[in-house]
Amino acid sequence: MDGECMNLAVIGMQFGDEGKGKIVDYLAENFDVVARFSGGSNAGHTVIYNGEKIKFHILPSGVLRGKIAIMGNGMAINPKKLVEEINMIENHGINPKVFISSKAHVVTEIHEDLDSELDKLIKIGTTRQGIGPAYYEKYRRTGIRIADLFNMDVLEKKLEMMMKLNDKFIERKEISTIAMGLREYGKKIKEMVGETEVIINNLMNSGKNILFEGSQGTFLDVDFGTYPYVTSSNTTVGGIVTGLGVPPKKIDKVMGIAKAYTTRVGEGPFPTEVDGDEGDKLREKGGEYGATTGRARRVGYLDLPMLRYATMINGIEEIAITKVDVLQGYPMIKAGIKYKCSKKEYTYPPSNIHKCEVEYVEMDGWNDINDENLKKYIKLIEKETGARVTLVSYGPKREDTVKL
Ligand code: GDP
Ligand code: IMO
Ligand code: MG
Repeated sequence: MDGECMNLAVIGMQFGDEGKGKIVDYLAENFDVVARFSGGSNAGHTVIYNGEKIKFHILPSGVLRGKIAIMGNGMAINPKKLVEEINMIENHGINPKVFISSKAHVVTEIHEDLDSELDKLIKIGTTRQGIGPAYYEKYRRTGIRIADLFNMDVLEKKLEMMMKLNDKFIERKEISTIAMGLREYGKKIKEMVGETEVIINNLMNSGKNILFEGSQGTFLDVDFGTYPYVTSSNTTVGGIVTGLGVPPKKIDKVMGIAKAYTTRVGEGPFPTEVDGDEGDKLREKGGEYGATTGRARRVGYLDLPMLRYATMINGIEEIAITKVDVLQGYPMIKAGIKYKCSKKEYTYPPSNIHKCEVEYVEMDGWNDINDENLKKYIKLIEKETGARVTLVSYGPKREDTVKL
């Protein structure tokens, strides 16, 4: 980050939407490559570019800086949405240099329909982008991979199998029409498809610096999040190893991104949630509406047990705190410091998180970015996590960032 050759991971420490897109855009200048390793168009990473709001769902945000973009095998990619996003970026005058893994899984309209139907039963409150079904087909070993887009026979057979395995949930679709559509999108991305694990390792070995762009957040991780209210992939640091084919020792540093408060979209436990007028005020002040679905985000106080756990799981050394401007002007700020769950105290969120009550600390609020009270808030985060806060973001634009 300070000019030395290194590969850095950017990982969300909460329930997603921490401001990863903004921070990736800020940091990307110092890197040659920006790589995504998990998820797909369930993500929504917002970057302000020439005064305009750009939302990335599939492409790594670093393309705006003219960096090489890698989309790893761990991703679930909707080819139609990818092509649309590439067109959108081209309309902004940028010709993205993209490499797409031939091993990444393909999201189709069958997966989208399944996601919508299954969520009526399971009630996770998914983004309905077809991500969960694409991953369950992957693990059932019936998934379609990017390489399959170039073989009509294989594509039709796989779509047929998928329809057969899922036809109790969704209406039958015309397979040949879907296959033809996918083939057309496949043609548009063919030149970009390759063995990205080889490409990224070659780039690293030739001294190029990689920025790993996490999507979602630690508490949406399928293993470490608030299961079952999670996404269907590993969003934490381990996802980089399996989702890009990068050896663990090549991840030199992990930066965690944490919002100065907490938000969550969709269902699931949220111990520090604030309802009522106070919650509405914070939601409006923070503009907390989903970048992918437009849904109102649930809002709440900072949760230090969550940040401690995220620091531990991901090996976070540095933290970027975002949206401190949103809390500006509040006379008093609260932060959850520990949990009490079934009469036991915890300094991290346990599996029975839904049974937890939160103990809070209260602090005086701040009026601007140089206020001593903001420094105290940052010190508290450092003390409780053991990581250093090295970036503070006080607005959505690249320049609204201070390096500590
Ligand atoms: P991501 O998914 O982690 O990339 O985050 P999102 O883009 O979904 O949500 C973060 C929102 O906060 C976006 O609208 C950003 O433009 C905005 N944002 C990021 N950092 C800041 C900040 O420091 N202050 C304010 N006010 N907005 C910010
Ligand atoms: P970024 O990268 C916030 C949430 C959904 C739902 C759950 C499962 O922008 O931080 P899914 O569609 O993945 O099966 O939905 O996960 N979710 C996110 N919440 N930010 C995201 O991504 C999210 N991606 C998924 O709201 O609760
Ligand atoms: Mg988002």
